[in-house]
Amino acid sequence: MRKMAAGNWKMNGALSDLTELTLLAQRHAMASVDILMCLPAPLIAPAQKEGVIKIGGQTCHVASSGAHTGDISAQMLVEVGAKAIIVGHSERRQDHNEDNATVQAQARQVIEAGAQAIICIGETGDARERGETLDVLADQLAGSVPEGATSGNTVIAYEPVWAIGTGVVPTLEQIEEAHRFIRNTLVDRFGSDAQDMTLLYGGSVKGSNAAEIFSVADVNGALVGGASLRADDFSPIITALEAS
Ligand code: PGA
Repeated sequence: MRKMAAGNWKMNGALSDLTELTLLAQRHAMASVDILMCLPAPLIAPAQKEGVIKIGGQTCHVASSGAHTGDISAQMLVEVGAKAIIVGHSERRQDHNEDNATVQAQARQVIEAGAQAIICIGETGDARERGETLDVLADQLAGSVPEGATSGNTVIAYEPVWAIGTGVVPTLEQIEEAHRFIRNTLVDRFGSDAQDMTLLYGGSVKGSNAAEIFSVADVNGALVGGASLRADDFSPIITALEAS
């Protein structure tokens, strides 16, 4: 089981901010966990020199090429150095109406291009209040994760929508329930290989709460937004994961 500390810069960051990655690479040169930073597409190529840090993308098109002005394929991101690509982030599902079928097609493109698909799932606050959390997760897992997903080519990120960018974190019991459910669902479908699939928690992870989140069973790392932008904020999260 590979543990992973993954960051997601979203639509933030400039060329000058890549010095944050240089700092991280220096501080964590001997890292015992995977460190992945998912950058805006124009920063992927210039970030290639950052040693231990793998660079990733944040989305891709459902096709590998064609008449899709403004879109970028998984293959293109991989060619400039992306080792992994996030698909199905809730901001993409909301802002671009990406449904499970779209996310599954994107994940297939990522895997075919030779990168790791980081597939995001998670319930809205309304769904949790209605008691539908596990139904939503079951539906998203069935619809978004392609056949052929393995512990090598796929990572699942559980990101409750209500915890993203809000500073509100689920209880450890809520995280544990979701992760246990995700693990069992994946093992039912893909067999014992899914025991080794890396499961990330995402949503308001910070240096101050990382250790307790990583103590939860079946949490194998984090997908971090706001606290991934600065080395001083992300570094303690990497250290907490290594210690877990
Ligand atoms: P956050 O974002 O850490 O800023 O809550 C997490 C994410 O959207 O992946």
